[in-house]
Amino acid sequence: MAARRTGIAAVAAAAFFAMVSVSLAQAPAPDATPSGPPNVTAILVKGGQYTTFIRLMKETQQDTQLNSQLNNSFNGNGYTVFAPTDNAFNNLKPGTLNSLTQQQQVALVQGHVLPQFYSMESFQTASNPVRTQASGQDGPFTLNITATANNQVNVSSGVSEVTVNNALSDKKPLAVYSVDKVLLPLEFFGAKAPAAAPAASKDGKTKKGEAASGPAGSDDEASPTSAAAGGARAVAWGVAAMAAVLGYLL
Ligand SMILES: *[C@@H]1O[C@H](CO)[C@@H](O)[C@H](O)[C@H]1NC(C)=O
Ligand SMILES: *[C@@H]1O[C@H](CO)[C@@H](O)[C@H](O)[C@H]1NC(C)=O
Ligand SMILES: *[C@@H]1O[C@H](CO)[C@@H](O)[C@H](O)[C@H]1NC(C)=O
Ligand SMILES: *[C@@H]1O[C@H](CO)[C@@H](O)[C@H](O)[C@H]1NC(C)=O
Repeated sequence: MAARRTGIAAVAAAAFFAMVSVSLAQAPAPDATPSGPPNVTAILVKGGQYTTFIRLMKETQQDTQLNSQLNNSFNGNGYTVFAPTDNAFNNLKPGTLNSLTQQQQVALVQGHVLPQFYSMESFQTASNPVRTQASGQDGPFTLNITATANNQVNVSSGVSEVTVNNALSDKKPLAVYSVDKVLLPLEFFGAKAPAAAPAASKDGKTKKGEAASGPAGSDDEASPTSAAAGGARAVAWGVAAMAAVLGYLL
């Protein structure tokens, strides 16, 4: 009887330890998954409709830049990315991206990245204009963020305005939101810029041409006039000398 009791106790104890060790083994598992910095490329790839934006980020090296900033906790405030869909890029006028220099493409991509993490709710606390990663380089490249009716949020570059769609990532330090339009910077695509750009370059050319002929012309004019004046003087002297000779002869 006693032996049987110890036997049952041993089995119970073994079962208890087995259960404890199973629960101990399971416990750390959920904590192990969210380690390491977020990877913006992986998040966009998973989204499935951001191939153009992924390519642009890669070509402008903004993917590795943002990933290393996320890893170095370069900025304790985190980051927010507005990721235009492939449709958004397809809806641009043909040649829009190719009209930009490499430097401008960098600014275009950086203009979609905010050096601050915003949850959908915290967009309401954003104070406009909001600085982007492109701000303070070639220009302001700011965005205006406004909460609209029915808890929607709009973001505007001054050229394009779009409603912020679903979050591909909403965990600090990285928020990534899908947008249906490319946020074209006011600095490159402002109402004045496209109209003014050809006129400006024409003006620039004519001005350059004028400027080129201007100073050169005035320099050339200055020397011919002085040469002419010198010539006239020489002629005058010549005439006077001739007159003198003639006078002497007569
Ligand atoms: C981020 O994810 C992309 C796509 O999955 C991968 O190619 C790249 O190596 C990752 N980068 C880092 C720093 O893990
Ligand atoms: C993050 O930075 C650490 C230290 O510099 C480095 O060892 C690690 O590989 C980096 N991780 C990623 C995913 O880039
Ligand atoms: C943001 O809003 C201000 C005030 O309405 C306006 O002056 C500015 O041009 C806007 N900027 C952008 C980038 O939309
Ligand atoms: C928000 O943006 C959308 C898309 O451009 C536009 O149709 C809508 O009028 C905007 N809403 C407000 C309140 O500005």
